[in-house]
Amino acid sequence: MFVEAYSYDDVLLLPGYSEILPRDCDVKTRLCAGLELNVPVVSAAMDTVTEEKLAIAIALEGGAGVIHHNLSPEEQARQVATVKRYLNWVIETPVTVGVDAEVGDVKEIMRRCNVSGMPVLDKDRRLVGIITSRDLRFCGNDTLPVAEVMTRELITEQGSPSPESARMKFDQNRIEKLPVVDSENRLTGLITVKDMEKHAQHPDAAMDGTGRLIVGAAVSPLDYEIRIPLLKNAHVDFVVVDTAHGDTKNVALAVSGIKKKFDVPVISGNVATKDGARRLIDAGTDAVKVGMGPGSICTTRIVAGIGVPQFTAVCDCAEEAAKDNIPVIADGGIKFSGDITKAIGAGADTVMIGSLFAGLKESPGSEIIFDGRIYKEYRGMGSIGALKDGGGDRYQIAKDEEPTPEGIEGRVPYKGELRLFLHQLVAGLRKGMGYCGCKNIAELKRYRKFVKITAAGLRESHAHDVQITQEAPNYSRM
Ligand code: XMP
Repeated sequence: MFVEAYSYDDVLLLPGYSEILPRDCDVKTRLCAGLELNVPVVSAAMDTVTEEKLAIAIALEGGAGVIHHNLSPEEQARQVATVKRYLNWVIETPVTVGVDAEVGDVKEIMRRCNVSGMPVLDKDRRLVGIITSRDLRFCGNDTLPVAEVMTRELITEQGSPSPESARMKFDQNRIEKLPVVDSENRLTGLITVKDMEKHAQHPDAAMDGTGRLIVGAAVSPLDYEIRIPLLKNAHVDFVVVDTAHGDTKNVALAVSGIKKKFDVPVISGNVATKDGARRLIDAGTDAVKVGMGPGSICTTRIVAGIGVPQFTAVCDCAEEAAKDNIPVIADGGIKFSGDITKAIGAGADTVMIGSLFAGLKESPGSEIIFDGRIYKEYRGMGSIGALKDGGGDRYQIAKDEEPTPEGIEGRVPYKGELRLFLHQLVAGLRKGMGYCGCKNIAELKRYRKFVKITAAGLRESHAHDVQITQEAPNYSRM
């Protein structure tokens, strides 16, 4: 039986009556069970795309990164912990020192933990002082007791402080650290002026309930039992069961196993059919990831002869997922900002991006100069190189098996900082929403008015019959 299926290039959203300006469109969305993002963009779990730096950069702008799993479980968890530590509201377990310690101990802890000061506690964990690098500046004697050097007159917060009250105390007292205590003066947290400033600089950051950046991590059906305890320790927000074929018994068992054993939201995939989405939903997934072969580096469709053009795959899976109110992530094949509008118009809640992010300053690896232009390496997780580095689980390839790649290795143009590039992507989405009169993501998901275009229509859509003399920040054909 043949069913006609479309990719993003085959369709355009039909413009509609609008009373909304692009800048007023709300692009907040849901990622999965209880997790919201301020922009509907997630970076791919790929070893040339998402490690700690990119995960921090994208979460600061309202999206989320998924740390890949071609890393040891320990290293992956360490990277998650780094993202979670980058931004805090109240640090729940700050570095502290006992009042009996000596100045030398404080210096050693400051160096090891990379902190510039810490609360001083008595043996009942009551707050008795604070010691900062300012107190230590002129203290040459490392054997002096902390009690003799620390600041005793403390400005504190009690209970659950508000950002406004903390900001006032920082401003009025010109301090840099504000301990939080309970009614018995036991330390419950620490607020730093640095964190307050970072929050103010990134008003759209995607944050958990305690003001830390949101980050996810990829696991496989074979290693999730080892990885998830470490990831949970690092306060990961969600895990992604990341496979090339999500409609398998192994993936369904992994999803139900994670739901049973661990209290963590789980996204799973990839699937491209209604039945595939249904089986993951029945297994308990908190979001369905859709995409079999649309990725820029994917050769699955060519090597294996399977797949569904991504626009149709997203439409079908989103229709099934909507029955249970489960979010959908459209993974792969995003070439321009307009594809994001189309993916959400097809029913996705977020999109996952690889190639467009691989050239960013914050992605792993360094810049390469080729023919006078700057590039960065980008490779499929099913490419020979990535498989050799441990990516076999995703493609059901055993360690001693001769690899059959489903992806290629290449390079993409260098794109500079994520912040500016993501702004262009989201601005394009907002423009699309404005043209359709959709004021938020839910309205765009419901809009569902598309025209199918021909090859001539696509040619007409792109810049044509002109030699481009000035590169635009949101339009490049490589
Ligand atoms: P884009 O188009 O954003 O796609 O570069 C990224 C997505 O592609 C998937 N992926 C692969 N698919 N072979 C495949 O068939 C591969 O080697 C491969 N590596 C990544 C993945 O879903 C990613 O998010």
